[in-house]
Amino acid sequence: TSCSKQGTAESPRAARTALREFTGAYPWEARPNGKVRSFDIVAEPTEVELLDGRRLRVWAYNGQVPGPQLRIRLGETLRVRFSNKLPQETTIHWHGVRLPNAMDGVPNATQPPVKPGGTFVYEFTPKDAGTYWFHPHVRGSEQVERGLYGVLIVEDANPPPYSRDVMWVVDDWLLDPTGQVDPRFNTRHDLSHDGRWGNVITVNGHLREALSVRPGERIRLRMLNSSNGRVVMPDFSGLAAKLIAVDGMYLREPIDPAGIELAPGNRMDLDITFNQSLAAPFTVVDRFSSRRPNALADIVIEGEPVEPPTFESPARAHVPAWKTALEVPEHHTFRLNARGGGPLGIEWTIDGKAFVDHAQHHHEEPILTLTQGQFYRLRYVNESARLHPIHHHGMFFRLLARNGVPVDEPFFRDTVLIRGRETVDLAMVPTDVGSWMVHCHILEHAEAGMMALIDVR
Ligand code: C2O
Ligand code: CU
Repeated sequence: TSCSKQGTAESPRAARTALREFTGAYPWEARPNGKVRSFDIVAEPTEVELLDGRRLRVWAYNGQVPGPQLRIRLGETLRVRFSNKLPQETTIHWHGVRLPNAMDGVPNATQPPVKPGGTFVYEFTPKDAGTYWFHPHVRGSEQVERGLYGVLIVEDANPPPYSRDVMWVVDDWLLDPTGQVDPRFNTRHDLSHDGRWGNVITVNGHLREALSVRPGERIRLRMLNSSNGRVVMPDFSGLAAKLIAVDGMYLREPIDPAGIELAPGNRMDLDITFNQSLAAPFTVVDRFSSRRPNALADIVIEGEPVEPPTFESPARAHVPAWKTALEVPEHHTFRLNARGGGPLGIEWTIDGKAFVDHAQHHHEEPILTLTQGQFYRLRYVNESARLHPIHHHGMFFRLLARNGVPVDEPFFRDTVLIRGRETVDLAMVPTDVGSWMVHCHILEHAEAGMMALIDVR
């Protein structure tokens, strides 16, 4: 089986070096401290005031878009009593969280889908502090677009004393001429391109988010891209911002965030001290679509100065360098492509297989079986010309190379943007047993089959 193909057998020196750096347990990993934090979440159709005053018919968690922000401390147990008041089946997936497989929210793989009128209790103790989010894993391209997503923040056991902790949730909406969410989901155009790119971008539901800070304030700014397809690259140059976490996990050391892309699903945390006042607001612009840079938010620095809190950056996590990882032969090469056919007319495939009718499938075979605690190098070859932000459930990985050129990112990820015709190498040590999904986070691509299951034993 998989053991004979393992990189460890073929390049023992490199694999030993890799394993010495990381044995599969993160030093900060939480043990449950016995404290349970309970929340009720209801998913239902409703109308909200969004986009600065317009009434929008949405599907929402607890009547709000973005959904509720769940905040717990590392070591605490999250208990969510979920009820589905939607006209469709659904589940909640906890994106990026290392949790027991049965709580991962993948229909028919980790739980039965929650029927309309049904309930489910999610209960787990996150192992890592950081910025996470949750969203349905049934008909995601429709349910997430209609407004179903929320943020889960797991604070450190002793949170660093920032002046403020600010969350920005970026979303991209495709509104029809009447100003409502365009009900044509999974169109041929969106399926054959980079998913559904909309015509209105919001931050926390606002057309242009506004943040007012005082000189001297040191804030932790967390950002999530909850869009179906749009990639954003927020430009903070001029603010001396430091990137301290990506996809929830702290960096080895803080770096300049220039060029960091937020593909659908990605998060980043910034550490920003505002040490002067500004005459005019600082506008955070999205530079990914350089033809039309979108303004995301305005930051106004005004008022009485405060003494900046001084403390060491929390970004000093153990992130293995894995310098010899590229000497370890790849354990598996995933091939990403498309073809005509299937229920939507186009199928997106991983290794020639399309995972369609997600919620109906009962026994999808795993594409790969990995051993818990082993070091793996995995390769993705994008044989298509489109973007694929690939997301692994239940595990973090490090990006090693793009098109064979080594990349040294001092952080883990759970989602990486793969460009058209690009080859990407990743390294990971799966830490939790179970059946974990891997898929493209362009939700239209996922809906058209670009999903698979990886078993970890
Ligand atoms: Cu946020 Cu399976 O995804
Ligand atoms: Cu894709």
